[in-house]
Amino acid sequence: MQKQILITGASKGIGFETARILSEDGCKIIAISRSAEKLRHLATTYRHIHTITADITNPDALSIIQKDLEKNRIRLDAIIHNAGLLINKPFSDLTDADWENQLAVNLIAPVRLNRILYTFLNKGSHILHISSMGGFQGSDKFPGLSAYSSSKGALSVLTECMAVEFAADDIFVNCLCLGAVQTEMLALAFPGFKAPVTSVEMGKFIADFALNGHKLFNGKILPVALNNPG
Ligand SMILES: NC(=O)c1ccc[n+]([C@@H]2O[C@H](COP(=O)([O-])OP(=O)(O)OC[C@H]3O[C@@H](n4cnc5c(N)ncnc54)[C@H](OP(=O)(O)O)[C@@H]3O)[C@@H](O)[C@H]2O)c1
Repeated sequence: MQKQILITGASKGIGFETARILSEDGCKIIAISRSAEKLRHLATTYRHIHTITADITNPDALSIIQKDLEKNRIRLDAIIHNAGLLINKPFSDLTDADWENQLAVNLIAPVRLNRILYTFLNKGSHILHISSMGGFQGSDKFPGLSAYSSSKGALSVLTECMAVEFAADDIFVNCLCLGAVQTEMLALAFPGFKAPVTSVEMGKFIADFALNGHKLFNGKILPVALNNPG
């Protein structure tokens, strides 16, 4: 039976590679991001890709996602909450708007999506939150990442809470805290920094974990990093 997997932030970086690898594996992908053009490229280059152009922070867009799944009778076996925003600013320069934007993309959108998508999940499904080492308790912390790391820390703890509540419905929830991966997000936030992992390597790991990780883990916050970076 073909697995059906929804991925947010599939237009580039880690999300793009994860979507590509899962589609090459035979899965049907529901790919979401704001860039219609980049999603079109994904869907025309690879097979089994259904795209929905949406800003996940916009409640109207969330209802478009819901209606699209209903109309196309799509059931889900996994959700990968990969879309993310990184604001790199010293704590004292962060405005209310910065905090609101940071939390809107990295925390509130996954919360709302999980609420909407819950009824589309098959028994035995896997919800996977993509967090960061900055949101992993006890990791090294870096200046400029207080809003980002706090949003990812909240997403990590949300994982533990949801796993407890969803267990009765046979739905598994896990969180991967990634170390540095070479993508546009990293290059913009830390120009010149060279990450030890490519988006293809991380995409492979996430694709495999989304399909199989919940056979061994539930409610877990797992560091995926060679060292202890943010
Ligand atoms: N790269 C790293 O070193 C690293 C380390 C730790 C954790 N992570 C996490 O890994 C995930 C992927 O990161 P990445 O490095 O691949 O980032 P990226 O290259 O900047 O890609 C981010 C993706 O999120 C989408 N996105 C952002 N805001 C959105 C919104 N409001 N609505 C819908 N889609 C939105 C973007 O698509 P559009 O612009 O088309 O909307 C894009 O597809 C993020 O959650 C990030 O925090 C990355």
